[in-house]
Amino acid sequence: MSEQSRKVIVAVDGPAASGKGTFAKALAARLDYAYLDTGSIYRAIAHEVLERGGDPTNVEDVKPVLETIKYPLPDTVLKNPDLRTPRVEDATPHIGAMQEAQAAVRSYQEDFVKNPPDNAAGAVLDGRDVGTSVFPQADVKFYVTATPEERAKRRYQQQKDDNPGLTPEMVLKDITLRDARDMNRQFSPLRPADDAHILDTTEDTPTETLEKGLAAVKAKIAPPRMKNGTGKFRFGR
Ligand code: C5P
Repeated sequence: MSEQSRKVIVAVDGPAASGKGTFAKALAARLDYAYLDTGSIYRAIAHEVLERGGDPTNVEDVKPVLETIKYPLPDTVLKNPDLRTPRVEDATPHIGAMQEAQAAVRSYQEDFVKNPPDNAAGAVLDGRDVGTSVFPQADVKFYVTATPEERAKRRYQQQKDDNPGLTPEMVLKDITLRDARDMNRQFSPLRPADDAHILDTTEDTPTETLEKGLAAVKAKIAPPRMKNGTGKFRFGR
């Protein structure tokens, strides 16, 4: 594969509610790259295990669901609002910690990058271990973070209308627990890659974060490789 036809890979990792999804989506839109929320695949697995009456901590209950994880999964699966319920949210880090699930989601990501939607010139993938483990060769890596208090504040604002009993303290406790599970797991724990650009969103607006990200991509990738198959080129708009 020539250097120009190889797809550009941008890895965006970080903890829950850090703003990595917002950043990764906006970055992909500006670059005309495909975007993949890898967390939604783990959530979809957790959801399906629960739907089948299985135990998300038991790998034997998870394995049959992993057989169904083939690229491309439809939006009805990956954008199912049930993936955001507390039940699925609690179950997902157990799936994320399983080597078998990591292998299935890794293959999914590899297929996505080889054959991205709309033949895009590159892909932005957001997750926990994209730059450290799945694509250590990624062209550009970001680690998006914010203080636990700020992340809890954001998550509380998003969820309070749907969860009348929720308090900011409950959200902070939940986020701290999820961080601990993701950072202390045995396989592919959440951590910044050595060569990741750290984007702390505690004080920055989404626009400021996006501008920093675009500058980092521009510094790294030669313009011809940024174009997609349709010749669209929106970088630096
Ligand atoms: O990004 P999101 O909050 O949707 O991820 C939900 C959970 O899925 C994370 O807390 C983590 O346990 C797991 N996950 C993972 N690896 C990824 C993405 C998500 O283990 N690449």
